[in-house]
Amino acid sequence: MWLYLAALLGLYFLHRWHRDKQILKNLTEKYVFITGCDSGFGNLLAKQLDAKGLRVLAGCLTQQGAEKLKEATSERLQTTLVDVTSTESLVKAAEWVKGHVGEKGLWGLVNNAGISFPSAPNEWLTKEDFKKILDINLVGVFEVTVHMLPLVRKAKGRIANVSSIMGRISYFGGGYCPSKYGVEAFSDSLRREMIDFGVKVCIIEPGFFRTNITSDRIFLEQMNRIWERLPKETKQAYGESYMHRMCKSASEMQATCNANLSLVTNCMEHALTAVHPHTRYSAGWDAKLFFLPISYLPTWVPDSLFNLSYPKPEQKN
Ligand SMILES: *[C@@H]1O[C@H](CO)[C@@H](O)[C@H](O)[C@H]1NC(C)=O
Ligand SMILES: *[C@@H]1O[C@H](CO)[C@@H](O)[C@H](O)[C@H]1NC(C)=O
Ligand SMILES: *[C@@H]1O[C@H](CO)[C@@H](O)[C@H](O)[C@H]1NC(C)=O
Ligand SMILES: *[C@@H]1O[C@H](CO)[C@@H](O)[C@H](O)[C@H]1NC(C)=O
Ligand SMILES: *[C@@H]1O[C@H](CO)[C@@H](O)[C@H](O)[C@H]1NC(C)=O
Repeated sequence: MWLYLAALLGLYFLHRWHRDKQILKNLTEKYVFITGCDSGFGNLLAKQLDAKGLRVLAGCLTQQGAEKLKEATSERLQTTLVDVTSTESLVKAAEWVKGHVGEKGLWGLVNNAGISFPSAPNEWLTKEDFKKILDINLVGVFEVTVHMLPLVRKAKGRIANVSSIMGRISYFGGGYCPSKYGVEAFSDSLRREMIDFGVKVCIIEPGFFRTNITSDRIFLEQMNRIWERLPKETKQAYGESYMHRMCKSASEMQATCNANLSLVTNCMEHALTAVHPHTRYSAGWDAKLFFLPISYLPTWVPDSLFNLSYPKPEQKN
């Protein structure tokens, strides 16, 4: 009986492996637009897809980022400046993409642009801090998608949104985790709406990787700024040790972050080039073996686990 079970399991994995291995033909005819190509996942993905022969249209935030990417890639890759929080900029980018792809349509859209700061305990943040992240990570993703969708429908293409394992379980305060929960929520509706158009929608859920998103240097800078502006009562209630403990956790976190970004960009590449893309990709051992499993467990399990690493306030009232 166990033998049959093992054989069945083996067959299932063999089938999956075979299915996953099938890659589309004619990749050189396909256009892909990626946001946030200045650094991190977007930058690496642009180079990786360019090397595979795809026609990459890279959206960068800064002129400097665009120039550096262009130097490192082939003639095929084109760059444009995009600010995902500006409707005007997005309309211009959509026109620019349309000019390049013509009748072929846009095969792939990768919503990658994102920020993670300001992040701090919720009580320490302002409405502006909260909105800043949502504007880029959630509203920005929505608006990019809406402007590019006609072109993607034309190509019966793919959309890949970069969410995060923090879209399954919320580990720290501020707008970042809610923005990623939001991207997950959008996905469900868009995926169903797009089935009849032949467009496939995938979510990428990376764990903690070494990018600007997890930079402890940027974390410390913003944390000092936030701490300075707190009212005296709040400072006393939490205590300076709370702040220091948070900064220490951020540094420890950064040290354990996975530096191999290709684990994530390989998922993105699969989503764009496989015959049978997955609906969800989780990347990194921390996402697969820790955060994802505990997100399915009763609340007290993650609460007690996170309690071990959370700082403790000095006054408990
Ligand atoms: C690849 O592209 C060429 C030219 O556009 C076309 O003739 C051919 O049918 C395509 N092959 C596949 C497998 O789609
Ligand atoms: C991607 O983001 C857009 C805009 O937020 C949303 O409409 C869509 O459902 C998302 N798809 C996935 C798979 O997250
Ligand atoms: C990432 O961080 C580096 C160093 O702080 C900075 O120069 C760069 O502009 C950042 N990239 C983005 C896209 O914010
Ligand atoms: C990064 O991950 C990829 C994919 O698993 C692997 O092929 C590569 O060897 C890794 N690179 C390093 C430096 O570990
Ligand atoms: C977290 O740990 C503290 C002791 O450090 C304990 O008093 C508290 O009840 C714990 N909270 C949870 C949710 O387990």
